[in-house]
Amino acid sequence: MNHKDKKTRVVVIGVGAVGSTTAYTLLLRERMTELVLIDYNKQKAVGDALDMNHGLPFTGKTKVWAGDYEDCAEADIVIIAAGAAQKQGETRLDLLKKNVMIFDSIIENVTKYNQHGILLIASNPVDIMSYFSWKKSGFPKNRIIGSGTLLDSSRFKYLIGEKMNVDPRSIHAKIIGEHGDSEVPVWSLANFAGIPLTLSDEDKKQIFENTRDAAYQIIQAKGSTYYAIALALDRICTAILRDESAVLNVSTYIENYQGVSDVYIGVPCIVDQSGIREVVDITLTDEEKQNFQGSARKMKEQIEKINA
Ligand code: LAC
Repeated sequence: MNHKDKKTRVVVIGVGAVGSTTAYTLLLRERMTELVLIDYNKQKAVGDALDMNHGLPFTGKTKVWAGDYEDCAEADIVIIAAGAAQKQGETRLDLLKKNVMIFDSIIENVTKYNQHGILLIASNPVDIMSYFSWKKSGFPKNRIIGSGTLLDSSRFKYLIGEKMNVDPRSIHAKIIGEHGDSEVPVWSLANFAGIPLTLSDEDKKQIFENTRDAAYQIIQAKGSTYYAIALALDRICTAILRDESAVLNVSTYIENYQGVSDVYIGVPCIVDQSGIREVVDITLTDEEKQNFQGSARKMKEQIEKINA
């Protein structure tokens, strides 16, 4: 059945820059039949809904409204983009304490009305917030997805494509690990047309550093990031709503993966209507594996803080 024929509902909780841009992206691309906006600042959600509804004659038939947690009851996907955003000079991990407190009540309210949907976590530090959401919600791990390193992999492909003068959609390259400073470039598997990339070590270093530090650069320039993360969240929603079985580098719970267990972290996953269908096992070089394990250790240290 075409995804447009049956009723599908996406709820966005937190309509700040990321949440409202994601909502708008989903609307423009007509991903669902119902879009609900929830924010502690109800007037912002009301204003966004009004502003989007006035554009419906240009887009298509999507019901958009500012709602409350009861509206989560029939949601296929609940995107959580609420919480403090990174400011200049802050790392994503600096947001942990504040955002765990905010999530505690959000997850409680969502699960009061919805026990069957998929929670898509965008708030940072996204790997830890995904782990917290999984624990707090009691949902099976396949239905708690973090945006993970999907955005980082997109930045990575863009920068490689620029260097090689190849469309970034034709570049196969992934970033795994933390969505943050310890993320890992998997150069050993990067290719286009099945051809391994012939880049100098200096070019690789530059491309990876620009990928890893992209958010800092954008935050310094304009205060926050929202366009590319919105497109990444739209990509994940589409894989779910269309039951695509698409391989996406998202944050999920891993067990015995590259020698790592009991952590949410960015890895290649097959995403379909069930959420995470499976984690894709890849072969890493020793160095990549060590770096991934180091990134996972860092995530586990942070998880201990919230379990404390
Ligand atoms: C970024 C935010 C989403 O990397 O963490 O732009």
